[in-house]
Amino acid sequence: MADGQKDKRRTAKDGMRIVVTEDGPYEVSGSVPMSDQQMVPDADGLSVEWRQGKEYPVEEDYSLCRCGRSTNMPYCDQSHLDADWDGRETASRVPFAARTEPKTVGPQLELSDVVELCASARFCDRAGGVWDLTRASDDPTSRALAIEEVGNCSAGRLVISDKEGNVIEPVFEPSIGLVEDLSAGVKGPLWVRGGIPVEAADGMVYEIRNRVTLCRCGKSDTKPFCNGSHLEPD
Ligand code: FES
Repeated sequence: MADGQKDKRRTAKDGMRIVVTEDGPYEVSGSVPMSDQQMVPDADGLSVEWRQGKEYPVEEDYSLCRCGRSTNMPYCDQSHLDADWDGRETASRVPFAARTEPKTVGPQLELSDVVELCASARFCDRAGGVWDLTRASDDPTSRALAIEEVGNCSAGRLVISDKEGNVIEPVFEPSIGLVEDLSAGVKGPLWVRGGIPVEAADGMVYEIRNRVTLCRCGKSDTKPFCNGSHLEPD
């Protein structure tokens, strides 16, 4: 199927779906669970683990703010109607595998990387970084840490495979995490887990993935996906 072509054949797991509306919120349907997800840092400010915070009542349908202006976060309160913001979707529609840079190849692991997807969650920098850990993947400790760091990469920028090419992914309950970046003191993107389809305002369904992050500050220039702009001062 050509990039950008409408793809309505893929159906949501259990009816779950997130629809990007034109200059408006994300319309979530299918009773998607939602919770706060906190990035827990080490002494150097590098992220080491996710900690679940508040769980929200599960509603069948709800609207989540995409512009960053709501006074009832995380929900849309129609503030986008008066906001000076540009909600246009500018993200690439090319599948991940066709965008990855030359892989980092180690003795036991291969790492794929699409930098443009980075949401600056900073799980990949510990212990010399996931790239060096991949190159050192003959060592069981390095191998385990590389897999852990990639699994914590909320945006799905990083994907890791074994040497037979089998992708190694964490198993997530399909859900939305409201990211809280504790060391930076800011709210981060929506962490969409478990293969929930994200549909563009023009009806195209983005590549369905286990981990993606959606902008909710309104500042990303790769909307609807996060590009770390929530860390920039207003
Ligand atoms: S998208 Fe409606 S208030 Fe932000």
